[in-house]
Amino acid sequence: MDQNARDLEILLDAGRIEARVRELASQISNDYRGLTPHLVGVLKGAWVFMADLIRQLSVDASVDFLGIQSYGPNTNSSGEVKITKDLDVSIAGRHVLVVEDILDTGHTYHYLEGVLAAHHPASLRLVTLLDKTSRRVIPVRANYVGFEIPNVFVVGYGLDYNQMYRRLPDVRILALAPSS
Ligand code: IMP
Ligand code: MG
Repeated sequence: MDQNARDLEILLDAGRIEARVRELASQISNDYRGLTPHLVGVLKGAWVFMADLIRQLSVDASVDFLGIQSYGPNTNSSGEVKITKDLDVSIAGRHVLVVEDILDTGHTYHYLEGVLAAHHPASLRLVTLLDKTSRRVIPVRANYVGFEIPNVFVVGYGLDYNQMYRRLPDVRILALAPSS
């Protein structure tokens, strides 16, 4: 696996992402006016998006991170989710906004939603930069979606393939041999 990042087709360029992140932030700021949402970023994929999103918010927000591993070296979600880093502070009574890079089968967020809801947040919502609705196995929905994308494997803007390509400023399509 050694595809030159520059050869990968751009699905969403940096300018489009920036404009959409701005819109999401303004919508979120309106919805949480008068509140201090608690942003929970899902590591590692969401950290680039979260860094851009939080700087466009006009309400104060606190931040925490959850480390999750749902994918091994291949690109098929096994449905198995492992927490690799727990939250640092309690979310009880907080207005929690989970920040995800991408919703795919829905396994990861379905699991997270259960874990987080058990800690009694005042509210629990999800913002995802990307949404592959056609791939959904479990019917989870995000409250805020940056872009609906087709069933392609994407990298860049924090998203990886085998830990590579996270640094790319655009979201690009990684051509993969079909897996079973
Ligand atoms: P789900 O559990 O199938 O919804 O998978 C969600 C997780 O799978 C995301 O948080 C990503 O880490 C990973 N993932 C799904 N699709 C892609 C993709 O196209 N590129 C990179 N990571 C992906
Ligand atoms: Mg992820």
